[in-house]
Amino acid sequence: MNKRNIERYEAKPIPVPISENLEGAEVFSPFGPMILKSKAPESLVRRMNQYANTNPRTQGACEFLLTNEQCMDGGEDSLIRYTGSLIQTYIFHIDNLKIASVDFEAFWIVNQTAQTSSPTHFHSCPIAGILYLQTPTLADGAEDGNYMLGRNAGYINFLHGGNQQFSKSIASFRPVVGDIYIFPGWLLHVAEPFLGTGTRRSLAFNAKPQFQVR
Ligand SMILES: [Fe+2]
Repeated sequence: MNKRNIERYEAKPIPVPISENLEGAEVFSPFGPMILKSKAPESLVRRMNQYANTNPRTQGACEFLLTNEQCMDGGEDSLIRYTGSLIQTYIFHIDNLKIASVDFEAFWIVNQTAQTSSPTHFHSCPIAGILYLQTPTLADGAEDGNYMLGRNAGYINFLHGGNQQFSKSIASFRPVVGDIYIFPGWLLHVAEPFLGTGTRRSLAFNAKPQFQVR
C-alpha cells in the first residue's frame, strides 16, 4: 500500500471544541464515520415538493420513488447533478480522492405523519443521503420529551457502536427544510416520531461512486 493510500485512513489532528474550560488541554475525536451537512437550493426543494404534492400516492404516511425525469429535471440544477456534486465533495474532502462519476440506485420521498417513525436501518449502497423537504408544526412541549422515549420532534439519530466508554455513539440532528446530509450507507440511523400536525417529508437516496483508474 503506497503512502497516498495510507493517508486516506488518517484523521487530521484537529481538536474538537467540546468545552470552553479545558484548562489548557485539547480533546481529539479522530475516529468514526463522517457526515456532511449542507443547504440545498430553495428552487430544488420547491421542485421536489411539487412532485411530492402531485404524486397520487401522497396520502398520510407513505413513500414513493422519484422517476428518472424528475431526478434530471432542471438541467444544471437538477437533483441528480446537485447531489452528485455534493457526493464528490464529500469523498474528496474525506479521502482526498476524485471520483469519475456517481451512479444512483434510487431517489425516494418519505412522508411521515405524527407518531410514525422510521425504524433503525442502513442503506444498500456505499453512500446514502437525506434532504428535508417539509417539517411539521410541533405540538407545545413536543421537544421536551424524555430522551429515552424520544424527543417527539422527528430528529434523525445516527448510531455508531454502543455504550463504549469515553466514546460517542449517537449523533442527533433536528430536521430543517433544505438541510441535506451525506453519510456512509452502512451507518445505522433512525427517524424519531414527532408530536404535532403536518408532514415530516424527506427525500432519501442511495449512490455508488465510481472511482477513477489511476
Ligand atoms: Fe435511511
